[in-house]
Amino acid sequence: MLVRPDEKMPIARLLTFLEQGERLANECAKAQAALAPDFGSRRFLLSQARQEAAHALVFQGAITWLAPRHLGDAPFLPALEEYRRLLNDALVRQDLLETFLAEQVILEGLGEAILTRIEAGLAKRAAPFGRLRRILLQQEEAHHGFGRRMLERAMADGRINTQTLRRCAQDYLALTDQMVLTLSGLFESIAEDPTAWANDVRKFLPEWLNQPGHEAISCQPSATVGPEQLKAEY
Ligand SMILES: [Fe+2]
Ligand SMILES: [Fe+2]
Repeated sequence: MLVRPDEKMPIARLLTFLEQGERLANECAKAQAALAPDFGSRRFLLSQARQEAAHALVFQGAITWLAPRHLGDAPFLPALEEYRRLLNDALVRQDLLETFLAEQVILEGLGEAILTRIEAGLAKRAAPFGRLRRILLQQEEAHHGFGRRMLERAMADGRINTQTLRRCAQDYLALTDQMVLTLSGLFESIAEDPTAWANDVRKFLPEWLNQPGHEAISCQPSATVGPEQLKAEY
C-alpha cells in the first residue's frame, strides 16, 4: 500500500473516527430495534446492528495493520460525544423518528461522505480489501435509505412535517459541521482536498433537509411512533 509514513497517523485518526461512529451506530440500532413497533423494522435494525459491529472490527483491523501505535487513541472529537448524548436523550424519550433523523439520515450521511472520499484516496494508494470496503459502503447506503424511507413515510402519513424535522436537525447538523471542520484538517494533512469533501457532506442529505430557512429553535420531542404507524416494506 502506498502510504507514506507521515500519512499513517492522520489516516489512523480518520479510521478511529469511523470506528467510533460504527460503535455508536451499533448501540443506536440495538436500542431502536427494542423500540420498533413492527417485526419488519425490528428485523432490519437488528441486522443493521450486526453489520455496524462488523464494520467497527474492519476499521479496528485497518488501524492495527496501518498504525498499531494509534490503536485506542483517546477520543479526539468532543462533537461526536455530544452527538451521542443528544441521540441517547432521544432514545430515552422513545422518539424513534428523531433517532432515525439523527443516526440513519444525518450521521450515516456523513459516514457515507467520508467513506466515499476515503475510498478514492485508498484506491489511489492501492490499499487492499477493496471488495470488503465496497460491501461496507453498500450496507451503509441501505441503512441511510431505511432512515429516509421511515421519515418520508411519516411525513406522507402526517405524523411529522418537514419544518419539525428541519428544526430538530439543527443541533445535530451543528455538531456534524464541527466534525467536518476537525476532520478537514486530517484530510488536508494527507493531501486530500478538504473543501471538496466538506461539499460532499451536504450532498448525502435529503433535499427536504438541505433547504435553507433554518429556525433557531432547539429540538423538541416531536413524535413517537405507535405500533400501527410504522408499517414498512423493505
Ligand atoms: Fe457502519
Ligand atoms: Fe450504518
